This record gives sequence, C-alpha cells and structure tokens, in this order.
Amino acid sequence: MKNPVRHMFDGIASRYDFLNHFLSCYQDVLWRRYCCKYLKKLMAVDGIAPENAGCMTSNAPKVADNAVENARKVRLLDLCGGTGDFAHTFRKIFEGGCACCSAKAYPQKGTAQCLSQNGTARGFAVEPAVIGDFSYGMLAEVKPKKIDAHAVQLDAMKMPFAERQFDVILNGFGMRNVPDARGALLESYRVLDAGGYLCVLEFFSPRNLFNKFFYKVLAPLFIPVMGAFFSGKRDAYEYLVNSIIRFLPVDDFCKMAEECGFEVKKVKMFDGGISFGVFLHKPESAA
Ligand SMILES: C[S@@+](CC[C@H](N)C(=O)[O-])C[C@H]1O[C@@H](n2cnc3c(N)ncnc32)[C@H](O)[C@@H]1O
Repeated sequence: MKNPVRHMFDGIASRYDFLNHFLSCYQDVLWRRYCCKYLKKLMAVDGIAPENAGCMTSNAPKVADNAVENARKVRLLDLCGGTGDFAHTFRKIFEGGCACCSAKAYPQKGTAQCLSQNGTARGFAVEPAVIGDFSYGMLAEVKPKKIDAHAVQLDAMKMPFAERQFDVILNGFGMRNVPDARGALLESYRVLDAGGYLCVLEFFSPRNLFNKFFYKVLAPLFIPVMGAFFSGKRDAYEYLVNSIIRFLPVDDFCKMAEECGFEVKKVKMFDGGISFGVFLHKPESAA
C-alpha cells in the first residue's frame, strides 16, 4: 500500500528546496548552519577532533602530534535527509575552518588567529555521508548536488544498520513526519555510537502567543497558497502546517528523548520559536 507521506514528498521533491528557502526567507539555511557549527564545537570540546592540535584560541587540550593521522573520520547519517541539504551543510562546516574554535573565532581579519599544526586552520575529516529517507523522489534530488554521500532508501523507524554505526545523526524537519517520534528516537539511539550526537532541527507545536498566532492564523493563510502556486500541491503545504500544530511542544520532545536514554545538551530557539535545534547526546557509558 502507498504511504501517503512518502507519496506526498515524492510529489513535491523537485520544488522542495526552492520552497523551503522561499517560505522561510532563507532562514532554514541559517538554522542548518547554526546546528552544524554548534555540533562541531561540541565535538571539538569532547576531543573527538584531534585536528584541533595547536589551536591558540581554544581551551581544548593540545593533543599528540600523530593524532591527526590516527583520527577516525566522522560517520554521518542525515536521517529523513530528503534532498541532502543538511548533510551538504555539515560537510562544508566540518571540513573547513578550525574544529575547536567557535564560528566567531574562525581565522578572519581582526579576529583571533587559529593556528593548527601546519599553520593553517583544519577541520574534521568526514566519511561519505549516508542520506537516509523513504522518499525516492527526494533522494533523487541529492545527485545533482554532487555531495560526497550515499543515498539510502529506508524507514527511520527500522533502519538497515547495525548498532553504533554513526557518530552524528542529523534529523532536519523529519521527526514530525514519522508516525512515532519515540520509535525514531530509539532507533536513532541504537545506531548512534556511544558519545555520539543526534541533532533534531524541527518545527515544534507552538506554545507561546507569537507562535500560536504565527502557526494557527498566519501560516494556514499564506503557506498553502504559496505552496500551491509554486508546486501545484496545496495538500502538501496544508499538511505541513497541520503537522506542526499536531506535533509535540519542544519540552515534551526533550522529555521523551531523555526517556529514550539521551542527554539534552542544548535547545536553541530560532526566530522567536518558529523552529528549534535540539542537541542530544548518547552518553559515553551507554551500553
Ligand atoms: C520536511 S522533509 C526534510 C528534508 C531535509 N531533512 C531538510 O532538512 O530539508 C522530511 C523528510 O522526511 C522523510 N520521511 C518522513 N517519514 C519518514 C520515515 N518514516 N522514514 C524515512 N524518511 C521519512 C520524507 O520523505 C522527507 O524527505
């Protein structure tokens, strides 16, 4: 039987990126960038990036000279990854710049200079990403972007991977679409290595007055109309608004993540609560 959500994403795939950027006024690009930069900082502080050796601006301890050669590459899963924008951003941010400074301290004119071992700023080494999604139409849009990645058709509730296969899982606007967020969290926990991170970027059910007004009054007026105009699929953009209202508030989602075994490292509110970045950590001690 056809899954209606998968069918819907297949139908809007070719216009998905454009409408995402247009409807969010390019904020989605900034949200993804923030999430990747913050993950990079978290992982550098954890010492996962030995390439930070020699950085003059960080508190991270200096590591052995041979650490760079011995470093394991970051294993990334972009879950519900669609057209691969999140994985693409992740690669650009992780592979460039200094791994241990915050974004603001990147080597730029007038800012603190970061000097890694060979005198240039270094990033993380990243394995080819896995972009996992159940919509073939969305995954087909990955190829033209020429990302160093493998697109895998999968169900987020039951992934075809052994345990502890990834260091980082990104989930951009996917949690709201799976039938059981708890099931997707548990499955992400299973395939994440101990010490790894799950970053959920999502529109959560509105709680404050501004968000209630935005999602219950403004969004139902303009999002389906714009979506219909540019993609011809009004239903898909009505679904988008309804799925946000039906989803959990961010606090309840964090509680659920903790029940699944994650530590909540940070909850970052974007644009007054239009969206949130939730940074979850699988403890080192996890079995
Ligand atoms: C709103 S899009 C997000 C795409 C991308 N992550 C981004 O940041 O723009 C949600 C994606 O989740 C996928 N999806 C929904 N339910 C899924 C499931 N159960 N398993 C795998 N992918 C799923 C859809 O096919 C769709 O591509």
